[in-house]
Amino acid sequence: MTHNTLGWSSRWMFVLAATGSAVGLGNIWRFPYVTGENGGGAFVVVYLICVLLVGLPVMIGEILLGRWGGGSPVNAIKKVASKEGLSKKWRFLGLMGVAAGFLILSFYSVIAGWSLAYTKMFLVDYSNFESVEKNQEIFSVLTESAGLMLFWHTFFMLITGIVVAKGIKDGLENAVKYLMPILFLMLALLVLYASVAGNFSSAILYLFKPNFEAFETKSLLAALGQAFFSLSLGMGSIMAYGAYLSPKTPILSNGLIIALADTVVALMAGLAIFPIVFAHGMEPSQGPGLVFVSLAAGFSNMPFGQVFGFFFFLLLSIAAWTSSISLLEPAVGWIKERNKWSRPKSCIVAGGIAWIFGIGSILSFNHGQDVKILGLNFFEFCEFLSTSVMLPLGGLLIAILVGWKLNKARVFKQLDLSVEGKTTNLIFSSMRFLAPIGVFCILLESCGLLKYLTTKFGF
Ligand code: TRP
Repeated sequence: MTHNTLGWSSRWMFVLAATGSAVGLGNIWRFPYVTGENGGGAFVVVYLICVLLVGLPVMIGEILLGRWGGGSPVNAIKKVASKEGLSKKWRFLGLMGVAAGFLILSFYSVIAGWSLAYTKMFLVDYSNFESVEKNQEIFSVLTESAGLMLFWHTFFMLITGIVVAKGIKDGLENAVKYLMPILFLMLALLVLYASVAGNFSSAILYLFKPNFEAFETKSLLAALGQAFFSLSLGMGSIMAYGAYLSPKTPILSNGLIIALADTVVALMAGLAIFPIVFAHGMEPSQGPGLVFVSLAAGFSNMPFGQVFGFFFFLLLSIAAWTSSISLLEPAVGWIKERNKWSRPKSCIVAGGIAWIFGIGSILSFNHGQDVKILGLNFFEFCEFLSTSVMLPLGGLLIAILVGWKLNKARVFKQLDLSVEGKTTNLIFSSMRFLAPIGVFCILLESCGLLKYLTTKFGF
């Protein structure tokens, strides 16, 4: 298998890189604010169920497809399908992933730009962060300034493109080896701080006491979408990394470790952020600004707040960076293989497309606030379409492909049945039944949601 000769230097490098992909803005920025918008505890329970029953099987399916097929996700799927005598149409699954990657990267880079802007502000304009009101104001000033956001969005897209252009493996291994453990430690320290200085008991109740009265059916889809988003599933990120795996590495335990690490980081982020939100009487449901406003407020009340704040946002930016690389890679791999272009050229084209879409998201926080698609502004629309429609649909098709279409004996062989027999059976059954049925039901529900949106906004 030629594609494996350039593989990860060890199994743990794959685990770290995939964890680097999974852990990012999804855990620290998105998880708390989507939890806040969906009422807290009950959402967290449903989220955890989605990770276990849907996310884990799809993760394993992606690693398997990547390792088996090799190359970019579009071609990995194409190769596996043709080896197994399946329809050529399966490559559309890969193509949808490429499209989802563009959409996600476009707004991801804008939000990562906020994190970069905060890093800089903590370094040089720290005295501005002295009260909660001032913090709110700083956030509004940032989001009202299209030029400032464009600057940071461009900067972030450039650093993402540079790594992907150089080939992800070398740079990435070195980065994640040191940075992921530091990020984890920082987060642990913040949880500790929040437990002493914040309203920890309210936060625990809010996050872990399921209050199903506050849970609406639309939260089901939000939880599923968040599981896909946070675990980097449904568009080929993990598949692309799986392509560099040696055939001997165990797939199941790798998938389990990545999913577990990602979930722990999300919960820790919740435990770092909500105590501060409640201690300052802020609203948990304030949307995408939640983390930026509340954490900045927390830091400004903290001894050595400037140092902590600076390092935290720096690490958050880096975590976003190790994730955005995996968002760009599937598209670059595909463009490169398809047109026989060089990596840098493919990167400029793919990164350029995502950069242009990102401008739409920037404008939806200021000049273009009132431009609505299905009642959502451009940023919200990209987020909804990618996270709640394309990723679950991609995950559904991956589960069907691996669970039903591929030869079962060969899938079992890939999963190394002899070593992990019982678990394999269990995971395989959830790949066959639980994951597809779960996603399908929730997607149907989302059609109801679309109906709701269209009647509400008179389309
Ligand atoms: N999982 C990353 C985060 O939590 C973002 C991400 C990277 C992603 N690759 C992805 C999301 C693929 C969906 C699909 O920040």
